[in-house]
Amino acid sequence: MAPISKEPRPAHAVTRAAFLKGAATAVAVAAAAPLVKAMPAFAAEASGLALRTVPKSFEGHVKLPVIGLGTRSMSKTDAKAVAGQAQVITTLLDGGGKVIDTAANYTGGDSEEVIGDALAATGKRGMAFIASKYAEQTKAAGEASILNSLKVLRTNIVDLMFIHNMVAIDTQLPVLEENKGRALRYIGISDTSDRQDELEKYLDRLDFIEFAYAADMRGAEKRLLPAAKDKGVAVLVALPLGRGRALQAVKGKQVPEWAKKELGVETHAQLLLKFVIGHPAVTVAIPSTLDPKHMQENLAAGRGPIPDEKQRAKIAAIWEGA
Ligand SMILES: NC(=O)c1ccc[n+]([C@@H]2O[C@H](COP(=O)([O-])OP(=O)(O)OC[C@H]3O[C@@H](n4cnc5c(N)ncnc54)[C@H](OP(=O)(O)O)[C@@H]3O)[C@@H](O)[C@H]2O)c1
Repeated sequence: MAPISKEPRPAHAVTRAAFLKGAATAVAVAAAAPLVKAMPAFAAEASGLALRTVPKSFEGHVKLPVIGLGTRSMSKTDAKAVAGQAQVITTLLDGGGKVIDTAANYTGGDSEEVIGDALAATGKRGMAFIASKYAEQTKAAGEASILNSLKVLRTNIVDLMFIHNMVAIDTQLPVLEENKGRALRYIGISDTSDRQDELEKYLDRLDFIEFAYAADMRGAEKRLLPAAKDKGVAVLVALPLGRGRALQAVKGKQVPEWAKKELGVETHAQLLLKFVIGHPAVTVAIPSTLDPKHMQENLAAGRGPIPDEKQRAKIAAIWEGA
């Protein structure tokens, strides 16, 4: 993936000078991490995965593949499970994907460790874009969480850090802002509850938001998705498969022939992912899986035709009638 392209700079893009000026104010956690001097040089991809621009990236030139990986269920339960999870991560990266979404508290706190270990073992840290999160009340606890993420992810920068589930935003947003450009490349807030529309209030201060959106759960289309597009804030979509609920709803049914023909999908999971990435405000969908075959299948949804509004309406109708 090439960050430096000849595309015109989007209106929301942050200049390098402005980025570094902000970085100069960083304190606390930042002291433990070197100043970021440049964005990583992602290699050009031949994977065929669709790419989406991060609007507030350096000169608007950073692009991410539309399918990533959620790691909510990754944990160090036993060696066999860890090996399988490492294989999922390798499958993502070798297939041209980049975004790995984790959190300080996923599966008892060791999802980040699984990712850090897998990337260190394979030497693939440079191929990944790691998004993590924390939910802490105090400034000291927020900074400690960032430091711990750096340590267990075995990196000197977390590509994207979210305030998890909108916890203590007034305290934690300044912490993220102080450390942007040092320990953290981008900052955001996540929420998947029925309060997720409140993310809109903070868009001016954020690079990314993360929330729930799926063909059978389209509430974000009313305000959040258009607002993110309008403000130039990148979007990670959590629960794009409805945490399995949307797949359960069509169990035993055939994927419609029109969808196979027009969109090149073979499975309902791919159809659900196509629906999500077909929305123009969506940057990356992050379905979670512990199964390398499902990872392959999910990546394939990021290749080939992307549905237009008419096709997206037809996909949604499948779940309306399910
Ligand atoms: N507040 C927040 O910030 C927040 C909240 C929730 C989630 N998230 C993020 O969003 C990610 C995704 O959410 P989620 O895990 O709750 O829901 P999801 O991605 O919608 O669904 C995951 C489920 O779908 C299954 N699956 C994945 N690919 C499949 C395929 N190709 N075919 C059949 N089944 C498939 C997985 O099982 P297998 O393992 O068997 O594939 C898993 O049970 C999380 O991992 C997390 O990173 C963030």
